[in-house]
This record gives sequence, structure tokens and C-alpha cells, in this order.
Amino acid sequence: MAYDVIVIGSGPGGYVCALKAAQLGLKTAVVEKRATLGGTCLNIGCIPSKALLHASEQFAHVAHGLSGLGIEVQPPTLNLPAMLAHKDAVVKSNVDGVAYLFKKNKIDIFTGTGKVLGEGRVSVTDDKGAEQVVEAKSIVVATGSDVAGIPGVPVEIDEKVIVSSTGGIALEKVPGTLIVVGGGVIGLELGSVWSRLGANVTVVEYLDAILGGMDGEVSKQFQRILGKQGFDFRLGAKVTAVEKTESGAKVTYEPVKGGDAVTIEADTVLIATGRRPYTDGAGLKEAGVALDARGRVEIDGHFRTSIPGVYAIGDVVRGPMLAHKAEDEGVALAEILAGQAGHVNYDVIPGVVYTQPEVASVGKTEEELKAAGVAYKVGKFPFSANGRARAMLATDGFVKILADRDTDRVLGGHIVGFGAGEMIHEIAVLMEFGGASEDLGRTCHAHPTMSEAVKEAALATFFKPIHM
Ligand code: NAI
Repeated sequence: MAYDVIVIGSGPGGYVCALKAAQLGLKTAVVEKRATLGGTCLNIGCIPSKALLHASEQFAHVAHGLSGLGIEVQPPTLNLPAMLAHKDAVVKSNVDGVAYLFKKNKIDIFTGTGKVLGEGRVSVTDDKGAEQVVEAKSIVVATGSDVAGIPGVPVEIDEKVIVSSTGGIALEKVPGTLIVVGGGVIGLELGSVWSRLGANVTVVEYLDAILGGMDGEVSKQFQRILGKQGFDFRLGAKVTAVEKTESGAKVTYEPVKGGDAVTIEADTVLIATGRRPYTDGAGLKEAGVALDARGRVEIDGHFRTSIPGVYAIGDVVRGPMLAHKAEDEGVALAEILAGQAGHVNYDVIPGVVYTQPEVASVGKTEEELKAAGVAYKVGKFPFSANGRARAMLATDGFVKILADRDTDRVLGGHIVGFGAGEMIHEIAVLMEFGGASEDLGRTCHAHPTMSEAVKEAALATFFKPIHM
């Protein structure tokens, strides 16, 4: 065999798996059809969107956030091409970084579409149609996900007027009006980018809440905050048509509870109604790799598919479509392939929405605990009672901790607030070690920090917060 491991796809799941496998002494290759490494996340997803989120946040902060601190400035002017160039430069440095790490770890790259031919064999077809077969003991399918579109509604995404997240990070001018179909993570993050830069944003969402699946209180308070920022929400609204018009596009939705259809128009429409597992052209069905009803590759607890020696990780398998979940699966699988005991703790996978304020969550929501019949207790603390948050004029949001009523073991943590995406990790580490809210509440936290609100929420969970 030429290789111990060949990984198809170089997104966070695939490239991390390859690096870990090489670090553990396995001869490793990666197949990638894109000209650059890093997959959706680095090229057109997490990384470029965060570059735009940061830049647009700075723009909005300079425009509206400084006078309260006693700083008077002229309204900033936007140089969108330069902002987009910043995003492109960030992408380039990240994808180049992966290429450097591959070189350092002696990982071979095959550029082209990888197809599983069966046990131990993968074909790679380049963009000129030339095909070669590569042999490896283990094959890892890490082909990720793609834009799903609106279920049952044909939409022509031209990535200019009607865009997916791909076009949504590359608009050539700020739309006057933007309709976002889908009030999930992508819709709210990219909606925030363009809202901060001046667009009037309307979000049309099927469910009665934004960020479906998040803790209900978090979702409600976050919706209020975004409402104050100018978002117009149409909830319980099922989009049934999206069409181009002479000046832009129109979206038709029907109230889920019944009633007349409504049509609204905008310069640009962003479709953010989810992603689907991507297996196109990977030869999985032909090779006999079983997929489930939702098109995901079926795997067991050790990432094994129905074909011996073929494994799958990341967005293409069950579980949340998150880069860090894919990365952890990549590491665990590489360890398994190297004869070690790889493991992912699916109970402790944080999720972050990189808006301002951020929304971060780990473990169970209150609704999940209720549904599972778990006896729990709740502790909450608002940032409005935190000194550092007041000093920074960042008092929006709160921390909520859920713990087992009898054992005090922390089962979930939820934060809406400035820096929530960083703060969530102390709850994650606590949960990883099976910690209790009292452990967190008795851990000395530096003063004054936003993180003290996490400690206070923990104090509130097992007894009482000090500053409330
Ligand atoms: P999503 O699944 O988070 O949200 C899609 C929303 O569209 C849902 O709330 C759904 O109810 C709504 N919807 C579906 N059909 C509709 C219709 N006909 N009319 C109105 N609303 C409708 O999907 P999203 O935001 O596209 O993200 C895709 C994936 O990417 C998710 O798994 C997400 O976790 C991941 N992602 C994660 C990020 C992060 O962790 N910060 C950032 C971006 C994406």
C-alpha cells in the first residue's frame, strides 16, 4: 500500500485528521478538489465570515459605540473593497498555513475529486479529467456539507442577487435592503455583517424562535437585542417562493399558523436554511457505503462505515455541522487508526454565534432537560450587574447555568454577551471534568472581568449570587 491513510476532503475534519495521523507516524495523503486546502470553513465559511464580522463590528462600533465613552468622531466611511480584501488576505494566510503544516508533516496532496472505489482504493480525477488510483490501508471520507437550499422550494441562487453564504460574504456593494431566509446561525451572522454596514435586514424564519434548538431564554433575549439593532423578524413564516425581480428579488411567505401569504421585496436575498451532507461524486453508493435517510454517511462509534477500512467524519456524518466537532472527530479517528483509544465527548461540544453580542452554549438546554425528565436547577446572572461589562458599555445579555438538582453536576451553560464565545470554555472544561456548579462558584475569578458573571451564575445555581 502506498499510504496508511488517505483522507478525502481537506476541511477542518479532513486536514486535522491528516495532521494527527502524520504526527502519529502514519504515511498520509489528502485528496482535495479545491485549489486551496481548508475546505468550506477556511475558504468560504467560518474564517472569511469572521473577518467580515470583526471588520463590520469595528465599523458599527466607531459609528455608534464611542460617543458613550466620551469619544466624538466623524461618522466612518466604508471602503468595502478594502474590507473584502482584508477577508481574502485572512483566508489566504489560513489556507497557506494548512499547506505549510502539510509540508512539515510530509503529507502528500492529490488535487482532484476523490472517489472511493472500494476497500483500500481511491481514484482522483483532476479538472482536466485525468484519473489516477491511489491505494491506502484506510480511507477517510471528510467531504463536508453544501448549501441545502429551501426544502421543497426551487430557488435560483445566482450568488449576486439571491445568494447563499458563499455570495453573502462577497457582495460588491451594501444592499439597501436584505431579506434573510432562515433565522439560524448563518442568517444571523451574515445578516449582522450587512446590517452593521447599513442594510435594512428582515429575517423570515419558519419556527417561532430564532436560533432554533438553542435554549429558549437565550433565543428570546437575543432576538430582543437584535431587534434593538434594527433587525425585523418575521417568525412562524414559511417561505414558499423566492424570485428575482427587475430591481432585486421578492420573497413570499405564509404564516405557519394559517393566513394570507405575504410578499416582500429587497435588493438582495440570502438563503440560509441549512446545509446538507456533501457526497456528490465521491462514489459512496457505488462502493456500497451505506447512507442514512438524510444522505449522511452511516458510521458506528468508531467512525467505521459499512465498508471495512472506510471511515467518515465531520459534516458528512451525524451530529452538529460544526468545524470543531469535525476536528475532534479527525483527531479521534487518527488515534484509532494508530492503534490508540480515540474518543469524542459529544455531550460537551460548544456552539458559538459570532454576532455582537455573541451567543455561546455548551451541553443541554433547559428545554432538553425538561423533555428528558431530568431534575435540574438553574442559576442566572445578567451582565448589567457586572462591573467590567458596565465599564465597557457591554451590559447586554446574561449567563445561565443548568445543573443536576441532586448532584449539582453542571449539565449545560448558555451565555449571551460580549466575549461569550471565549467565556463558554470554562464551563466546557468544568463539564469535561464532571464538575459541579459549586466547583465553578468557588473558583477565584479575576476582578473585574466579564467571566465573573459565569462565577456568579454558578453561585446562583447552588446558592445565591453575591452581586444580586
Ligand atoms: P440552520 O439550520 O442553523 O438554520 C436554518 C433555519 O432556516 C432554521 O431555523 C429553519 O427553521 C429555517 N427554515 C428552513 N426552511 C425555511 C422556510 N421555508 N422558511 C423559513 N425558514 C426556514 O442553518 P444555517 O444557518 O444555514 O447553517 C447551516 C449549518 O452551518 C448549521 O449546522 C450551523 O450550525 C453551521 N454554521 C455554524 C456556524 C457557527 O458555529 N458559528 C456559522 C455558520 C454555520
